[in-house]
Amino acid sequence: MGKGSRSRRSSTRNFNTPKNSNIDYSDIKDERSGENKQRYVSKRRDDDPGWVEEEPPYYFLFTTYLSYLVLICFGHLRDFFGKRFRSKNYKHLREQNGYAPLNSDFDNFYVRRLKLRINDCFNRPVTGVPGRKITLLERETTDYCKTFQLTGNTRECLNLSSYNYLGFAQADGPCADAVEQTIRKYGITTCSPRAEVGSSDLHQKVESLVSRFLGKPAAMIISMGYATNSTTLPALVSKGCLIISDEYNHSSIVFGSRLSGAFIRVFKHNDMDDLELLLRECISQGQPRTHRPWKKILLVVEGIYSMEGSICNLPKILEFKRKYKFYLYVDEAHSIGALGPRGRGVCDYYGVNPDEVDILMGTFTKSFGAAGGYIAASQDIIDHLRITNHASIYAESMTPLLSTLVT
Ligand SMILES: Cc1ncc(COP(=O)(O)O)c(C=O)c1O
Repeated sequence: MGKGSRSRRSSTRNFNTPKNSNIDYSDIKDERSGENKQRYVSKRRDDDPGWVEEEPPYYFLFTTYLSYLVLICFGHLRDFFGKRFRSKNYKHLREQNGYAPLNSDFDNFYVRRLKLRINDCFNRPVTGVPGRKITLLERETTDYCKTFQLTGNTRECLNLSSYNYLGFAQADGPCADAVEQTIRKYGITTCSPRAEVGSSDLHQKVESLVSRFLGKPAAMIISMGYATNSTTLPALVSKGCLIISDEYNHSSIVFGSRLSGAFIRVFKHNDMDDLELLLRECISQGQPRTHRPWKKILLVVEGIYSMEGSICNLPKILEFKRKYKFYLYVDEAHSIGALGPRGRGVCDYYGVNPDEVDILMGTFTKSFGAAGGYIAASQDIIDHLRITNHASIYAESMTPLLSTLVT
């Protein structure tokens, strides 16, 4: 995704700034002929080598680990003397009145002795809309990063820290106006889960839009992306089933998989050889101890992996699916709206029929600039999830203003 757009920055041709954009395109040039070549079309190219993991140079590895080692040694030395000569300061780390200390030792050590020293790099207070730029509240410290005081100055910075990929989350403009009207008509919240009185025509509108957009027969929405994974996986698989998961899958997938009670096996990130080996082993061995066949096998991958920016090898996975017969669950939190010529995610990017993927999951937090998640699948699966997914039965439904923002 990024690779293509980066490589098109040296040029001989100027482009006009589009009317509705505040980005100045005048300095963007393209050495290839033709129209608007800087506008990268997110479609898989045949010459794309796929994801290649970059190893950091040894010099950086060595100096980073060495710095950690020095800090850890000094930290332990300071704690050793501190606990003996300034025991009052370490009271919270000791057992008190029979209560064990709440902070585990290493977490606490890490925060006090390593993170604190560079605390200014973290948790920078920001304000305003998280768009292309973000407003930073400047601060200063007088006690070596233990506490900070705001200076009252602000600074505009390039925002590399939040989602809102397409800029829909704005304080003014058509989205904000539509949300304002919705609040006047529907109020702020439904105050009830979907399965009780929390369903509205807005939810149905979003669901039908999502299913049409993704080319799936049905869809359901949930008020939080994290909960979409962590409550849907337990509703799909349970004891006696097998979940095969990419090692870099998001925490919500890991949490949902553990909650389900299914047996979990992990394969190396995006490594199709490792995946095939694992599939063969799991299928030939069956369940642990009894060696009975698995009740169901569910493979869970992401469209774009949030930390690496890698794209799953969907064509190869589908080849395995036809051969080994497992269900496929693709989390499109980062790829929906961002990948494919029509922004319809990883199926669109590879030109694959969405029918081939059993469950398409995504969130509205990233490209849609809202919040919440969706599951798009066959009508049977969605009907089943509506009555078994805990978020649908027990959790607050998506607020009217977010539903409006998505549509
Ligand atoms: C791959 C993936 N799935 C699910 C989620 C959870 O989504 P949300 O932030 O909308 O709760 C995230 C969040 O970053 C994610 O990266």
